[in-house]
Amino acid sequence: MFNIKALSEWKNEEVEGLFIGLYEGEKNSSGILEEIDAALSGNLKQMLKDNRFNGKAKEIFTFHTLGQLKAKKVYVVGVGKKSEANDEQLRSVFASLSKALHADHLQNAAIILDSFENGEEDFEQLSYLLSEAIELTSYKVADYKEKDNQVEKHLEGVTLFTNEEEQSLLEELQAGKVYGSGTNLARALVNTPGNLMTPTDLAKTAKEIAELHGMEIDILEREDMEKLGMGALLAVAQGTEQPPKMIVLKYQGKKEWNDVLAFVGKGLTFDSGGISIKPSLNMHEMKMDMGGAAAVLGAMEIIGQMKPEANVLAVIPSSENLVNGLAMKPGDVITSLSGKTIEVRNTDAEGRLILADGVTYAKHLGADYIVDVATLTGAVIIALGEYTTGAVTNNEELMEKLLYSAYESGEWVWRLPSFEPYRKMLKTSDVADLNNSPGRPGGSITAGLFVGEFAGDTPWVHLDIAGTAWTSKGTETGPKGGTGAMARTLANLAEQFE
Ligand code: BES
Ligand code: MN
Ligand code: ZN
Repeated sequence: MFNIKALSEWKNEEVEGLFIGLYEGEKNSSGILEEIDAALSGNLKQMLKDNRFNGKAKEIFTFHTLGQLKAKKVYVVGVGKKSEANDEQLRSVFASLSKALHADHLQNAAIILDSFENGEEDFEQLSYLLSEAIELTSYKVADYKEKDNQVEKHLEGVTLFTNEEEQSLLEELQAGKVYGSGTNLARALVNTPGNLMTPTDLAKTAKEIAELHGMEIDILEREDMEKLGMGALLAVAQGTEQPPKMIVLKYQGKKEWNDVLAFVGKGLTFDSGGISIKPSLNMHEMKMDMGGAAAVLGAMEIIGQMKPEANVLAVIPSSENLVNGLAMKPGDVITSLSGKTIEVRNTDAEGRLILADGVTYAKHLGADYIVDVATLTGAVIIALGEYTTGAVTNNEELMEKLLYSAYESGEWVWRLPSFEPYRKMLKTSDVADLNNSPGRPGGSITAGLFVGEFAGDTPWVHLDIAGTAWTSKGTETGPKGGTGAMARTLANLAEQFE
């Protein structure tokens, strides 16, 4: 996909689109804009001036060269104020650059990398961000409509012009592509309809990832769960004919199986609410209730390619939450794998039930650190909207590490309080150790802390992605629907454990 050439060679590249960055208010872009302009007899700068294009972030000016250059079109990309240049700004700029590139169906493109340089970011980071953006913006939601016969053109080659050393840039370009495509995998899993993405399908995907990257995989069936006593997962799964799965993936990057970082992802492939049934209006969107599992699988796909020297365990409890004649009922008391009993006050608070057994099982398998990821509560959407993932933790150090990974990945995470009275709200059943639905106030906190009860003293972070796993309007880098939220953050965290 990528190749790198010396800056001075830009003139010789026969290419459909040549992209050059221009910082706001600056006249020059490492001298190359002048060279391009000269080759176009001064027309480019004149046109920029006539159109009052002065490099505002994300604005793009397209110029047809009509045979005056080997490049068919020149795209001048506004990079915004140099004084404000940081990762966040460059992510946006590269997203709009890549969107233009895909929208025009370019099969090959060239980019003057040095024109995006700002003294703040190094060339490695620029390469990474650019490559990730190109990959992320290439994603399209698959549909099941009748197809016309038109062949779609795809981007095949990108040449970067720079005077920087080649090898380290190529590595970062590759890493950006890997992180982007792992995210796209998570998006695709979330967008797949519930009838085509059952617990069995999720397990199949996990198997493919394991086989591709030489990871160990184990899939527990209903009978295995019964033997082990996974009463919480089984309680949710008794309301549906679809066989539940407990999916376990092991990536061993160290000689010994120690210092194990475990990801536990909610794999609820369709959530009707059960007997405490949801309103029908937007129920179809509840195919996205396996967003946590998707994030974990996306991260494992990235980890499989990056191969960090770290040990990572992925545990995905997976089921549907439906309403057959055997479905769990409000008031039922169940015994979880940990031995703790739970009164099911609300069958729609099923995520925390399957996560309870997922977290306990992760501990059985040697987890030293646990991060659970789940589309757990509507309340987190009310608190933080679609842009920020809510976090709950029992461990400052792990939380700090995760926040750093989120920052590096360009994903927003915000910590919720977890003071003692919230925890007391869980202990309000007259008949069981825990109440799965202590009411609406602080709903995202109590949901998180419920899962935390099963983590016990093991360092643990909970990520509620009910708001961030799904975008109703689309984002800078992707279409409406699944976002792949937290796949990159989790993979980055695993790399921190090297
Ligand atoms: N899967 C839902 C949470 C959810 C809501 C995800 C909206 C994405 C968008 C979860 O299982 C659920 O139903 N939670 C309940 C908990 C309540 C019954 C305590 C909720 O948030 O209403
Ligand atoms: Mn639910
Ligand atoms: Zn749910």
